[in-house]
Amino acid sequence: AGLTVAILGATGAVGTRMLAQLAQSTIPVKAVKLLASSRSAGKSLTFRGQSLTVEATTAASFAGVDLVLASAGSMVSKQFLPVAVEQGAVCVDNTSAFRMVPTVPLVVPEVNAGALREHHGIIANPNCSTIQMMVALNPIRQAVGLKQIIVSTYQAASGAGQSGLNEFYQEARDYLNGQQMTAKIFPTKGDQRHYPLAFNLLPQIDVLEDNLYSHEEWKMIHETKKIMLGDMNANDIKVTATCVRVPVPFSHGESIWIDTGRPDATVAQLHQALATAPGVVLQDDPQHQLYPQPLNATGTRATYVGRIRPDLENPGAFNLWVVADNLLKGAAWNAVQIAECLVAEGLIHAVA
Ligand code: A2P
Repeated sequence: AGLTVAILGATGAVGTRMLAQLAQSTIPVKAVKLLASSRSAGKSLTFRGQSLTVEATTAASFAGVDLVLASAGSMVSKQFLPVAVEQGAVCVDNTSAFRMVPTVPLVVPEVNAGALREHHGIIANPNCSTIQMMVALNPIRQAVGLKQIIVSTYQAASGAGQSGLNEFYQEARDYLNGQQMTAKIFPTKGDQRHYPLAFNLLPQIDVLEDNLYSHEEWKMIHETKKIMLGDMNANDIKVTATCVRVPVPFSHGESIWIDTGRPDATVAQLHQALATAPGVVLQDDPQHQLYPQPLNATGTRATYVGRIRPDLENPGAFNLWVVADNLLKGAAWNAVQIAECLVAEGLIHAVA
């Protein structure tokens, strides 16, 4: 018994962590297939003490596969996931390829695991920045209310993949050695101009669109609405975002202003809602200078919340600071957690 699991993009920053999260999960695994580009074919990675060889991905790779965890880019997901579904697999996709398809569930298990029941073979993992914001704000929404969100992100270099992380480290070394920094990836691979991230801040993540927002900002707005309200264009919760890449390797920070719509709401109520919330660690003790930091969040599955304080001029509004590991809760762990839910709910079955 057990499932045959394929990791698509197994050699990447997220893929390697999907493999590690799968090894620590409750999912009954019969076999693991590691899929990447032909560049990585023949490389080996370890799963539960066993050495496995990476294969180049083709349509034939998905025969007999029950579960696909994908993080090899949108183009690769668009090319292969429909093929995998046709052959009987259920796919959890970390890319943005299918997130806004109305029939594809977009899931943060702590918030809307129920949406998994309507899946048609593909389930989308939300954007890393959206996920941690949902984990932090949903308990407040349930206990107190949520009318409006204004968020500014402080996003880690690893969000741009292993090559982005490598570029950032190289720039840091060059800068400290008094050498010219060379940028080829940041702010975003596909764009025309590139700028160093080391010792810098880049207020562009993904492409800048005609509406003046970056695509990352667009994702935070519309994914929030789809996850919390079931419709990417609903306006019961107003959302606006500014996304900034910062010279930190791992874990995203977010400064979030919210209006609960309840003028009598208190910090104590927010603390109470968050103290017992699934996936949340409340780190909010100003007397002891305790607040979330990327260095402490990295390598863990939790979303950390702190610096909760009332907006002194807007009753019912609050500021807070949220940090989570973008490669784990923001990607690999959320995907594996979705797969655990699918198994627990009997929503995935062995093909053979
Ligand atoms: P490879 O290492 O062979 O290039 P990251 O997000 O860290 O950049 O990782 C991207 C992942 O997606 C890597 O595992 C990469 O494999 C994989 N990948 C890139 N292009 C393809 C492709 N055309 N087919 C399958 N996997 C791909």
